[in-house]
Amino acid sequence: ALISLRQMLDHAAEHGYGVPAFNVNNLEQIHAIMQAAQATDSPVILQASAGARKYAGEAYLRHMVLAAIETHPDIPVCLHQDHGASAAVCIQAIRSGFSSVMMDGSLMEDAKTPASYDYNVNVTAKVCEMAHAVGVSVEGELGCLGSLETGDAGEEDGVGAVGKLSHDQMLTDPTEAKDFVARTGVDALAIAIGTSHGAYKFTRPPTGEVLAIDRIAQIHAAIPNTHLVMHGSSSVPQEWLAIIRQYGGELKETYGVPVEEIVRGIGSGVRKVNIDTDIRLAMFGAMRQLFATQPSEFDPRKALAAATKAAQGICQARFEAFGCAGQA
Ligand code: G3H
Ligand code: 13P
Ligand code: ZN
Repeated sequence: ALISLRQMLDHAAEHGYGVPAFNVNNLEQIHAIMQAAQATDSPVILQASAGARKYAGEAYLRHMVLAAIETHPDIPVCLHQDHGASAAVCIQAIRSGFSSVMMDGSLMEDAKTPASYDYNVNVTAKVCEMAHAVGVSVEGELGCLGSLETGDAGEEDGVGAVGKLSHDQMLTDPTEAKDFVARTGVDALAIAIGTSHGAYKFTRPPTGEVLAIDRIAQIHAAIPNTHLVMHGSSSVPQEWLAIIRQYGGELKETYGVPVEEIVRGIGSGVRKVNIDTDIRLAMFGAMRQLFATQPSEFDPRKALAAATKAAQGICQARFEAFGCAGQA
C-alpha cells in the first residue's frame, strides 16, 4: 500500500530502524528494489528526482510504481519526490500521486547556488502548507551537502560557478534546525554532515574529521519529532569498483559512507537513508561483466536481468543492515 513518509518514519522511529530511500528511474530498478523488499519483508521508499520523471516520462513512472504496489500488496511503499528544486516541482509530484515531497530550499532553483536561510524557510513553509493539506509529507534540507575534505558539493550539485562552500555551510547547526522546523513544519529534515552525492565522496576511508556522524545526535536532541535524513549515503562498494575496472571501466580511487557508519547514524536518529549511486555502480558493473564475458549474447534482457540481480543484492543488504527487514 502507498503510505506517507510521516507514517513510515513514525514507525521506524518507534522501532529504532532506518529505511533506505532508493532512487528509481526505470522498470529494472523498481523490480530490483521491490523484490528485495519482498524477500526481506521491508517497508520501502521509492524516490524519483525531477530528472527521473523526465527520463521515464511522468505517466510511465507513475504506472510502474502503481504496478509495484499492486504486485506487492503487503509491502508499505512511500513514493517520494527527491530534491524538489521549487514549489512547482513539488506540486507536479503531488499531482502525479507522490505521497511525499522534498523541497530542497538549501539551494536556489538552479540546484547549484546556495540559498539564504530566509529563502529556504519561506519556500519550504509554503510547500508544507500545500502538501499537508492533501496528506502528503514534506522533507526539507538545511545545510549544503558537500565534502569537508575539499569544500566541493559533489558531482551532481557541483558549485563550480559559485566557488567553494564554507565549512559552516556544510554542517547543519542544531539550533538553526530547531528554528527551521518550528517555522516550516517539515516532517523530515535532510542534514549536512559531510556526505555528498555521487561516487566521489572521500579520497580515503572517511574518519570523523570528514564524516560528522557525531553531530546527528545533537541535531536529533534539538528536533526529536522531526525525522532525520542522510543524503549521499552510498557506500561505493570496492567490489563493484573492482568489477567495473576489470571490464574496462575507468573509475578513480574513491570511498563512500561505510555501512557501519550509517548504522551508527540510525542509532543516533537517522530514519531515511538516500541511496542512488550504489545501485548505479552495481547495475553498470553487472552489465559490463556480461558484455565482456558473453560476447555472442544480444538479448538485452540478459544484461538487464544481470543488472537487476546486482541492484537487488545492494538493496537486500541495506534493508538488513538498517534493521528494516521484517518491519513491513
Ligand atoms: O540527488 C541526486 C540523485 O542521485 C538523483 O540523481 O538527478 O541524476 O536523477 P538524478
Ligand atoms: P548517493 O549519490 O550517495 O547514492 O546519494 C543519493 C541521494 O542522496 C539522493 O538524494
Ligand atoms: Zn540527495
